[in-house]
Amino acid sequence: MKIYTTKKEIAPIIEGLRKKQLTIGLVPTMGALHQGHISLVKTALEETDQVIASIFVNPTQFNNQDDLDKYPRPFEQDIQMLKRISENIIVYAPTPEDIYDGTVKSENYEFDGLENPMEGKFRKGHFDGVGSIVRRLFETLKPSVAYFGEKDYQQLLVIKKLVEKLRIPVEIKGCPILRESDGLAMSSRNGRLSKIDRDAAPFIFKTLNTAKKMFGIKSATKVMEWVTKQFAAHPLLKLEYFQIADSATLEPINRKSKTKTYRAFIAVYAGDVRLIDNIALN
Ligand code: PAF
Repeated sequence: MKIYTTKKEIAPIIEGLRKKQLTIGLVPTMGALHQGHISLVKTALEETDQVIASIFVNPTQFNNQDDLDKYPRPFEQDIQMLKRISENIIVYAPTPEDIYDGTVKSENYEFDGLENPMEGKFRKGHFDGVGSIVRRLFETLKPSVAYFGEKDYQQLLVIKKLVEKLRIPVEIKGCPILRESDGLAMSSRNGRLSKIDRDAAPFIFKTLNTAKKMFGIKSATKVMEWVTKQFAAHPLLKLEYFQIADSATLEPINRKSKTKTYRAFIAVYAGDVRLIDNIALN
């Protein structure tokens, strides 16, 4: 397995692949890989000639220094996990200075409003950071297809918009959320949960599922009130937001329309660990 840490090192490799007209499948990650990432890598292996997994904890997308400091970085374990799937995967693990050309700062982006609600509202500057790093990864690695999990559904839409606006020639593929057997969405942050919080966390998906059932028969306002109440009564989980929104524009639902599809989005604190999840409602 080849690991590259600088743009200079990987540039000729990318050129070589392109000359041979091989398709590149990119799986961008921040490491601390779990089965959700692995399923993205497996899909990429099936669909493209050369898979590149990037491992980079991107400082510019964190609005909270403590969250950045505590973000898990089990690099050796990640490499072993990837090796077990295929020795042919290329790993790109740059330093912040290298990928950001010395100045670790994000640009400002407009994503037609997709960046404003939910994660954008509660994590100021988050999507500027995501846009900045993903654009650099695309420019450096020139993928034909890039794979992202639907757990970060808002991020997925933002990246599709980034590519459309900057006319980057890459296909963006969203892949379904992978869950633990008790329903908790797989996340690199799950490993930071205390035993008691880990036991409590499946309540998030359970509540989303009930919200989905309610959405068929009750108004969106009633569903939102009910969810808020469930978390207000929960001794361990603190609700940051629950929002039902249009799945294409992320505009908050006003009145249900038969021609639209909706999704419910949630962010919850379990101790100091922030967990997000979402579910398609119709
Ligand atoms: O989803 C993630 O892990 C990150 O936001 C990404 C896309 C790798 C950018 O840093």
